[in-house]
Amino acid sequence: DGLHSLMVAAGKLYFGTAMETNNFNDAAYQAISTDKNEFGMFTPENSQKWEVTEPKQAQFVFTQADAVAQKVKSNGQLLRCHTLTWHSQLPSFVSSGTWTPATLTAVITAHITNVMTHYAGQCYAWDVVNEALNEDGTFRESVFLSTLGPAYLPLSFSIASKVDPSTKLYYNDFNLETSPRKADGAVKIVQLIQAAGAQIDGVGFQAHLNVGQTPSRAALAATLGRFVALGVEVAYTELDVAHATMPPSEADRERQAADYVAAVGSCLDVERCVGVTVWQFSDRYSWVPGTFPGKGDACLYTRDYQKKPAYKAVVKLL
Ligand code: XIL
Repeated sequence: DGLHSLMVAAGKLYFGTAMETNNFNDAAYQAISTDKNEFGMFTPENSQKWEVTEPKQAQFVFTQADAVAQKVKSNGQLLRCHTLTWHSQLPSFVSSGTWTPATLTAVITAHITNVMTHYAGQCYAWDVVNEALNEDGTFRESVFLSTLGPAYLPLSFSIASKVDPSTKLYYNDFNLETSPRKADGAVKIVQLIQAAGAQIDGVGFQAHLNVGQTPSRAALAATLGRFVALGVEVAYTELDVAHATMPPSEADRERQAADYVAAVGSCLDVERCVGVTVWQFSDRYSWVPGTFPGKGDACLYTRDYQKKPAYKAVVKLL
């Protein structure tokens, strides 16, 4: 049995991972990722982001994400799509453009419509808006916020639901797990979208966590529950648990295992938590050391595809 089949047996929809085309020619990686017992859901790690799918205005490029989608589909696995309106990995024509509310609305509408139309029927869910919040729960500065105000959120969701109402429309962010004020902000986002009469189906918890700083299973479940109470489903969308000291000690590796168990366990405890996606499953491809110098080894498998204590603990939990 693997992570996905155990999650399904526990009543969830999936256990998933991020994947990108640069992982395709790694035979050891592919042996694991194509095992349907291990992973049932895949998120393209970068190839559906705005800078890739629309690098120049009205020039749409789907080659790379199509390759991921095709691989997943041909193996009978599912796709979580990521992401549409986001301040990061945004092409300069958007981030450095001179916009009025009307012209930026047209650009967002064209982007969401084209990308979602291309993937219509292929995505279990779309992360419609990603990372709109500061740590204190206020709205993050961006070209979207400065031009349109918070209205860009309901706008993005209402465009998305017109294109493909059958895919689950998610708001996705990090540190909702650890920062109650940021979670307050996300609650307000869900309410803002609902009050505008727009469709929102889920909140994604990225869960980029740190060893020894992960809240308890009960605290995590309580935070998930705040969103379920608003009528949406929840999921862990980018789970990893980074070590701050490299290389980690055996005790650190056991602490990491406990943190993974807290996160996955909290999803088990919340009926409308539909699944868990890890942000790559091997340290060989983790984004952590490149983005947070000094941190690392955040995944369930080592660089050489050995199962870590964290992997074994999650299997034991499930
Ligand atoms: C990261 C990718 O893993 C990196 O390869 C890339 O260089 C930067 O983006 N939040 C998100 C993800 O929603 O899209 C980010 O992915 C990690 C943080």
